[in-house]
Amino acid sequence: MTDLRSVRPVRLAGPRCTLREWADGDLAALHALLTDARVAERTLDETPPSLDDLRAAAPAWRREAEEEPRRHYRLAVVVADRLVGLGTLVVDNPVHRRGEIGYVIHPDHWGQGLGTEAAGLLLRLGFGRVGLHRVEATTRPDHPASWRVLEKVGMRREGISRDHLLVRGRWWDSVRYAILATDPPARPGSLHAGD
Ligand SMILES: CC(C)(COP(=O)(O)OP(=O)(O)OC[C@H]1O[C@@H](n2cnc3c(N)ncnc32)[C@H](O)[C@@H]1OP(=O)(O)O)[C@@H](O)C(=O)NCCC(=O)NCCS
Repeated sequence: MTDLRSVRPVRLAGPRCTLREWADGDLAALHALLTDARVAERTLDETPPSLDDLRAAAPAWRREAEEEPRRHYRLAVVVADRLVGLGTLVVDNPVHRRGEIGYVIHPDHWGQGLGTEAAGLLLRLGFGRVGLHRVEATTRPDHPASWRVLEKVGMRREGISRDHLLVRGRWWDSVRYAILATDPPARPGSLHAGD
């Protein structure tokens, strides 16, 4: 059995952005994010989703968010009330209190610290209110910006999984990162605050 908690609704504010539950009004901005060529090249879809694809997926995302216990946190990264990114926390294994984070920021906002802030807020959610023990993240070997984000929030590189993903007909290795609730926080008080 697990004593993980289901958190809803999520609203977490950082100095630059807020993580909150996505809303129907975000779908156009989400579409713009996921179809930008610089983002689509990094994501796992065969082709970027159309706006209709996103509208069709929305009811399933809503159902996932209502599941008990909650395992899927799909959160808008919001600046000035507009979605500029997406952050995800998935509870992969409630028994072993293990989850995985993911994040995407619109290229118009790269280099402003939003990726790092979103990843830090996801860890705060995972270790704080949800109660995870271990959080993992997977990135590509040719993606130093993403390694940098993960290292800045205190995650450690644990190794490479060879041919871990088949994406658009090509095998990709994955660089595996993780952090434990008992690891020292990247900045004192920044990750393990229990809110
Ligand atoms: C990865 C991503 C989230 C980074 O977002 P961001 O808001 O630009 O991130 P930040 O501004 O917080 O920090 C990025 C860090 O990477 C560094 N960086 C950026 N490009 C880099 C590069 N080519 N080589 C090395 N470091 C790089 C920046 O200098 C910064 O580190 P610093 O603060 O020490 O200078 C963003 O590029 C993205 O959404 N990419 C597409 C989707 C994706 O790949 N998601 C991750 C899947 S694992």
